[in-house]
Amino acid sequence: MSIHIIGTGHYVPEKILTNFDLEKMVDTSDEWIVSRTGIRERHIADAATATSDLAAAAGRAALESARLTPADIDLVVVSTLTGDMPTPSTATIVQRKMGIPPCMCFDISAACTGLLYGIDIVHALLAARQRRTALLIGADKLSGVTNWSDRSTCVLFGDGASALVIQRDDHGDDDFYLASEVCADGNDADFLKIPGFGSACPATPEGIAQHLNTITMNGPKTYQKAVTAMSGACKRVLAKAGISASELHWAIPHQANDRIITAVAERLGIRENIYRSVARYGNTSSASIGICLDELNRNGELHRGDLILTAAFGAGLTWAAQLLRF
Ligand code: UT7
Repeated sequence: MSIHIIGTGHYVPEKILTNFDLEKMVDTSDEWIVSRTGIRERHIADAATATSDLAAAAGRAALESARLTPADIDLVVVSTLTGDMPTPSTATIVQRKMGIPPCMCFDISAACTGLLYGIDIVHALLAARQRRTALLIGADKLSGVTNWSDRSTCVLFGDGASALVIQRDDHGDDDFYLASEVCADGNDADFLKIPGFGSACPATPEGIAQHLNTITMNGPKTYQKAVTAMSGACKRVLAKAGISASELHWAIPHQANDRIITAVAERLGIRENIYRSVARYGNTSSASIGICLDELNRNGELHRGDLILTAAFGAGLTWAAQLLRF
């Protein structure tokens, strides 16, 4: 049996919001945003676009890259924190929009780490011979849960989606998923959250006035945890696989902040081939690592057999690192 990523795709909305646009909205500057985060611009969806629209567009691109049709898919998994509605799952809405036949469809809630949670779960289902061809999507419309009057968060986020087609072949004997750590610690959940409007804090007009339906973050605490959790997980994953950092073809960390990416790379002793797209997209949560993978793939910079180290960190707090063979 072999399991491989056989297709990649991504989609971002056309509209670009630059740091200079943000200077007109809140008390900030291009200089502050670039020096503290590395972000220069982000893509923003219009009000009529749902997360499922972003997800379906990325899914179609991934299917095309895998040279498959919707009828070939027997598992749809969507990682998102901005699902279209509480129920049904965004995965079922994507299934309908893409014309995928009846099959298992569900969402994952692991914030920015969700795509890596999805890889772990999808791989397990395929390895157990429960399903053959999965469409795994990371999609978020963070602009809809952003407090546009809070300069400490509104400069950070963007909208987008990415998708992977992962398939089992019963005749091979290699596996793309070499080693991993996929984890969470709920004790620090308050560092990064959307406090309303779930069952614990139902929607009220006062709640809307207080922006309880938007992301709140203790930036410095989240920053420290992100660096230690991602670099620690990466070291343990490399040790488990018996691979040194110098053998990696690419390192793809979650794209939240260029300084976090640099700090993690320094702790791992990685100087080259660290993929960065945060300047162009900001933090797209579940979509970020898949966007990087797809850009590398489409630019011809990924080759069969390449070793890729991914790492992510997000609300929960959740984190993961994975060593993949493309
Ligand atoms: O994807 C999930 C995980 N998320 C992350 O990993 C994000 C982690 N955190 C971060 O990336 C950084 O903490 C931020 C980019 C959010 C903030 O950077 P920082 O260097 O930690 O800045 P800070 O929060 O310590 O704020 C420094 C100063 C403050 O002013 P005072 O108190 O020193 O006078 C802020 O009020 O910068 C101020 N500030 C801003 N100034 C201009 C905060 N936001 C802005 C802004 N423009 N947009």
